[in-house]
Amino acid sequence: MENIQLIQTDDGSSSLLNLVLNETYHSTHGAIQESTHVFIQNGLQFFSEKNRSPVSVFEVGFGTGLNALLSLTFSEQNKINIDYTSLEPFPIAWEIARLLNYSQLGGNNHHYFASLHQSPWSESVKISEYFSLHKEKTALQDFNFRPDQFDVVFFDAFAPSKQPEMWVLPIMQKIVGALKTGGLLVTYCAKGQVKRDLKSLCMTVESLPGPPGKREMIRAMKLSGWKLK
Ligand SMILES: C[S@@+](CC[C@H](N)C(=O)[O-])C[C@H]1O[C@@H](n2cnc3c(N)ncnc32)[C@H](O)[C@@H]1O
Repeated sequence: MENIQLIQTDDGSSSLLNLVLNETYHSTHGAIQESTHVFIQNGLQFFSEKNRSPVSVFEVGFGTGLNALLSLTFSEQNKINIDYTSLEPFPIAWEIARLLNYSQLGGNNHHYFASLHQSPWSESVKISEYFSLHKEKTALQDFNFRPDQFDVVFFDAFAPSKQPEMWVLPIMQKIVGALKTGGLLVTYCAKGQVKRDLKSLCMTVESLPGPPGKREMIRAMKLSGWKLK
């Protein structure tokens, strides 16, 4: 893929640069550091400390597969069942993905990382004892949700400055509709308009400290009594 370039971030983990958008897939301050902070610690771990297994996760943008790999590792370490659904309209070829250095996280990660990337589309596949993956090769705009389906949403689209169409109220409304009551949406983005949109959908919105290099991130929880407007 001539539009994608492998880069190294400041924590030593690799990421990708989309040359068309001139946008990286992760923070240049540290890909693993950012994903762990935003999605695992403030999303998955926070949710599973208060709720029982299994946890259903929905990710916007499978991309490098890093969030999926970290979630798999979390599920195995904590013996928590995770059903992970992820959308990706522009999948990365395995020839590129295999150059990412996430397997160096240790354990069986090399094997798991390959399975995450090579698993078939549009079906649920058991990748490890506690982790199942369902990937859909489609854009969020074209994906039909069932209501009250997911516990945790990893909203990991490209930044609002590069992909503004992903951060608008109708999209947030669609995502919030797919969350269960008490479910969480986490994102690295801390834009005021995104917070206001989530609040307008009756979510409780927290601005949490971001990962190194980012002041804030958003965690929002769906309250009972939410109705599709
Ligand atoms: C910031 S990257 C993050 C990817 C991934 N979570 C990771 O850790 O590598 C954003 C991802 O969203 C994908 N994407 C772009 N447009 C999308 C859309 N309309 N619906 C869903 N995903 C989209 C991109 O191809 C890219 O893989």
